[in-house]
Amino acid sequence: MTTPVRITVTGAAGQIGYALLFRLASGEVLGPDVPVRLGLLEIPAATRAAEGVAMELDDCAFPLLDGVDVFDDPRAAFDGTNLALLVGARPRGPGMERGDLLAANGAIFGPQGEAIGAGAADDVRVLVVGNPANTNALITAAHAPDVPRDRFTAMTRLDHNRALTQVARRADVPVGDVRRVTIWGNHSATQYPDVFHAEIAGRPAADVLHVPEDGAGWLTDDFVPTVAKRGAAIIEVRGGSSVASAANAALDHVHDWYRGTPEGDWTSAGVVSDGSYGVPEGLVSSFPVTARDGRFEIVQGLELNAFSRARLDASVAELAAERDTAASLALL
Ligand code: NAD
Ligand code: LMR
Repeated sequence: MTTPVRITVTGAAGQIGYALLFRLASGEVLGPDVPVRLGLLEIPAATRAAEGVAMELDDCAFPLLDGVDVFDDPRAAFDGTNLALLVGARPRGPGMERGDLLAANGAIFGPQGEAIGAGAADDVRVLVVGNPANTNALITAAHAPDVPRDRFTAMTRLDHNRALTQVARRADVPVGDVRRVTIWGNHSATQYPDVFHAEIAGRPAADVLHVPEDGAGWLTDDFVPTVAKRGAAIIEVRGGSSVASAANAALDHVHDWYRGTPEGDWTSAGVVSDGSYGVPEGLVSSFPVTARDGRFEIVQGLELNAFSRARLDASVAELAAERDTAASLALL
């Protein structure tokens, strides 16, 4: 058997953890010939529940599952890790914005970043799911200065998938006909889901959907708020924050990171900005990205019209403000 990929999942006894671990172990994400070893990191009060999850993983008899280890110590949990899924964090409740979680959740990510820097494998890749995901990824990266910046990502794939479905519904086409939508900025209500470069069955989405350059009508009144506020809508209707769709998006992100984005398409991910599109270097912002050979690359050269520019700038301003709040809380 080839050497297993070591995957550490934090918050492994939580809801999203439960929805993603079994699919990671099944082989559907990294591939049918890639063995995995799972590390489940929890707070001490939840390690017993994590042991129960480990027992259930055993009971699936997944041929690709090399083993499961439960940890309450980040140093031990991230030792030798190739892939770290940082899910463990409190979800928001009704009436809250995700940024309101910074004070409660931010302190989780510094020690985890330090542990990743201290002991993870040389090829470690990190996906932050716990909210506020972009700024938590920034905190994690800041505590692991020797790990290359392109290994730290935040999840905006759920927003991307939500945008695909909204466009497909509007155009009355199968979701597979929609390509090249983009989520820009923060995983928050200021995010900018962009259809100006999207295609529907090979035609420009803006033409098919009759979207004017100034975004008036459906784009501004319906599409952008529906996607940007979908998390809050799920909380209101379901009575709790998204779980299965979030786990699915995390696995889509990991799948594409390891196995590549489809030819001619791109996805969205929060990555450490290199200054592209005027986003200040170092902020973790969502961009259109392709993945090849295990690396995300920001898609370059897209024209942003005035409407898109203003939306992106507003979301980036929020990211800068979250970074400043994190600094004032001594999280950076
Ligand atoms: P949950 O409350 O069901 O589970 C969270 C788990 O994290 C708990 O088991 C808790 O014990 C554990 N935990 C807390 N602190 C920890 C630490 N320091 N180390 C390890 N584990 C720790 O929550 P959930 O529904 O699984 O959501 C988890 C997070 O994901 C929330 O912050 C939520 O807002 C976020 N989320 C993000 C997205 C996104 O698109 N980026 C989507 C959905 C949810
Ligand atoms: C989501 O987008 O569903 C998650 O970030 C959960 C939330 O708080 O909205």
